[in-house]
Amino acid sequence: MAEKKDLGTPIGTTLDRFIKSKQDEFKYATGELSQLLRDIALAGKIVNKEVISAGLSGLNGQVGEVNVQGENQQKLDVVAHIRFTRALTNGRMTAAVVSEEEEKIIHINEDNHYIVAIDPLDGSSNIDVNVSVGTIFSIYRRKSPTGTKVTKSDILQKGSAQVAAGYILYGSSTMFVYTTGFGVNGFTLDLSLGEFILSHPEMKFPKEVAYYSINESLLEDSEPYISKFVMSCRKQGLSARYIGSLVADFHRNMLKGGIYLYPKTSDKPNGKLRLLYECYALAFIAEQANGVATDGVNRILDIDPKEFHQRTEFYVGSKSLMEELNRFN
Ligand code: AHG
Ligand code: MN
Ligand code: MN
Repeated sequence: MAEKKDLGTPIGTTLDRFIKSKQDEFKYATGELSQLLRDIALAGKIVNKEVISAGLSGLNGQVGEVNVQGENQQKLDVVAHIRFTRALTNGRMTAAVVSEEEEKIIHINEDNHYIVAIDPLDGSSNIDVNVSVGTIFSIYRRKSPTGTKVTKSDILQKGSAQVAAGYILYGSSTMFVYTTGFGVNGFTLDLSLGEFILSHPEMKFPKEVAYYSINESLLEDSEPYISKFVMSCRKQGLSARYIGSLVADFHRNMLKGGIYLYPKTSDKPNGKLRLLYECYALAFIAEQANGVATDGVNRILDIDPKEFHQRTEFYVGSKSLMEELNRFN
């Protein structure tokens, strides 16, 4: 039987209530950031509806356009981009948005303080085959004064300047996971209530490790130390797990212990993943959960960004495995 103290865990707390109860932890506690997080969660619920019915509503498949990343846009990439930017516009807390799906800054309201960087739909090639996908977001305070146009340097802030970051995982259940720098908390969408409910308080990578995650077809073409490290993972009995949706791979590894690797290759000399839309947010969450995130050399959060759509090698996961990877490098 569960001990009495376990029964005190605040399961049953809605995301709205939780965000409000934590508002004072934040140094600019005006409620704007809280509202912004709620706006993202609302758009997440709408996108969830669209993801689960994509096969019925004709939202599977490609648009026929190539996005700024040079990748084929899926219909849901476009839909999710619209849903999030619209929610952030209507929510009135955001000054500007940058999205993986759009080349330039989307200016919203220069009187606001917050900048959002977003990967509206991560793992979108998995949509058509009913495999988990996600949304990843980072939130910054602008550096320039309100009332002026948001500038490139408001967007190009280091990951360490994030005031909040999170992801939504559209998986076998839908989860909203976020941090404001005071630990990581996860909420599961109760479809009957239409609410995200706290289900995973104070998430941490466990001490034990279980998985390594890499697209193994990259091994031949990546630096030899990556293969050596993977061999060592196999020898110590770790299982291979790779979904191909970064959010889902990251989430599993954070819950079960593991490491995710996306190295550079000859045709992707800077790796594949996007610093602003994917890596900064997951690095912030990882560190808040006792994990580590690097580009193989540098701490991800310390990298000085040069371009909105910059790519980077990405290694993230349990501390012990990240240390071991470092020894191989
Ligand atoms: P996106 O769908 O936002 O473009 O991201 C896809 C990313 C990431 O989710 C995933 O881990 C990785 O691409 C998979 O790449 P490979 O197919 O090269 O393994
Ligand atoms: Mn992505
Ligand atoms: Mn995407």
